Amino acid sequence: MPATKETAARAFWLAGRQATGEDTLEVTSPWDGRPVGTVSVPTDAQVEEAVAAATAVGEEFAATPAHVRAAALDHICGRVTERAEEIAELISAENGKPMKWARGEVGRCVSVFRLAAEEARRFNSGTAQRLDTDAGGAGKLALTRRFPRGAVLGIAPFNFPLNLCAHKVAPAIAVGTPIILKPAPATPLSGLLLGELLAETELPAGSWSVLPVPNDRMPALVRDERLPVVSFTGSAPVGWSILDSAPRKRVTLELGGNGAAIVLGDYASEADLDFAAQRIATFANYQGGQSCISVQRVLADATVYDRLVPRIVSAVEALRTGDPSDSATDVGPLVSEEAAKRVESWVEEAQSAGAKLLTGGTRDGATYAPTVLENVPADTRMGCDEVFGPVVSVASVEGEQDAYAVANDSPYGLQAGVFTHDVQAAFRAQRALEVGGVIVGDVPSYRADQMPYGGAKQSGVGREGVEFAMEDYTYERVMVLTGLEL
Ligand code: SIN
Repeated sequence: MPATKETAARAFWLAGRQATGEDTLEVTSPWDGRPVGTVSVPTDAQVEEAVAAATAVGEEFAATPAHVRAAALDHICGRVTERAEEIAELISAENGKPMKWARGEVGRCVSVFRLAAEEARRFNSGTAQRLDTDAGGAGKLALTRRFPRGAVLGIAPFNFPLNLCAHKVAPAIAVGTPIILKPAPATPLSGLLLGELLAETELPAGSWSVLPVPNDRMPALVRDERLPVVSFTGSAPVGWSILDSAPRKRVTLELGGNGAAIVLGDYASEADLDFAAQRIATFANYQGGQSCISVQRVLADATVYDRLVPRIVSAVEALRTGDPSDSATDVGPLVSEEAAKRVESWVEEAQSAGAKLLTGGTRDGATYAPTVLENVPADTRMGCDEVFGPVVSVASVEGEQDAYAVANDSPYGLQAGVFTHDVQAAFRAQRALEVGGVIVGDVPSYRADQMPYGGAKQSGVGREGVEFAMEDYTYERVMVLTGLEL
């Protein structure tokens, strides 16, 4: 059963306890517009209270023993597992994500908390370095450990309303640094549910808050010097404006991409092409294409192009579009009708500039049909920007070097997929492609939550992935011991 609307406004989480503000925010289903929940919005004074509490608890939280932080993370891991189906329904209801993908997101959130618990136990044993390599260092030893930079402001997007909140929160708990989490206005319920689980732990009051602050009130929080770390996932213009407005902070930006799936000439058997087409069709359209690493561009070697493209078109046409609460649905609505209209206008622009529509190209409310375009001109929005919708372009390339050059001819560089069996080609691809991740033998859309995840060029700065975010939230502090008998 899909989650139903509550009668009263749902409280947010202020320094570990429930609170309500003066205004409310309505959350509606992108599929049928039904109300899914009403959320209370914090006042400026309540936001100030959360920041003050996070600042005050910093020292105490950093000194919390590893077993306490790991136990809290394990607890959340267990509770998300127990409530998995209910949480998947909530994600699907507020985001429009088909249940099959919502269940996958919940499973990944479990992994994130499990990984963070493991890392919390390993974190900060320190590294020792002898310093008597020169006469002046005789009897000296350096011991380097990591310490929190200070409270984190985590800003999460709508497309993975649970797991991208988890990627902000779990590493903060693992290193013992306070976090203020701001979920996306369209999908705050999953982040608030995470708050419910955090409230069941023994973490110190003030060490975490979940505040659905409206976007127009965020600039002040972003500039607040008491929050020296900002971890943002979302659109490129907003991300870069955060960095510009807080240049002295530690800012991590996970922004867009226009993922290329490259099919090299050796990937040529019937089975190879069937597999590549199936993976491309699925991952150009999963979550309505609303993933930064969904497949947006297919670059196929000229020797396989004519056999691959019809397979992609029929695999795309076989996808089932419809009600996200139905487990058989592959493709649901976009997050809003406005988003679907934008995608529609980009496809129309590409067609006017000469692209050929191979399938799709229709819209019904917030649902945009899975679409394949051929030969999209590079100077159209579809050609150079991130569509964030169920649309993929196909083009023919002449060999490996041409494929990498075309893939790199993009302002973005998040991940790329290379279908090949040639291990040397895999290494050449890793060297040539200007991206944060190269997936060999599959689409760019693969992400394991322990991997370093992030981009080159306009796709952002810094890396997420549990261990990498923990590194980001902390800095090295060296202690030099002297007078030792080494
Ligand atoms: C994103 O859209 O950047 C997140 C992708 C993922 O976590 O799989």
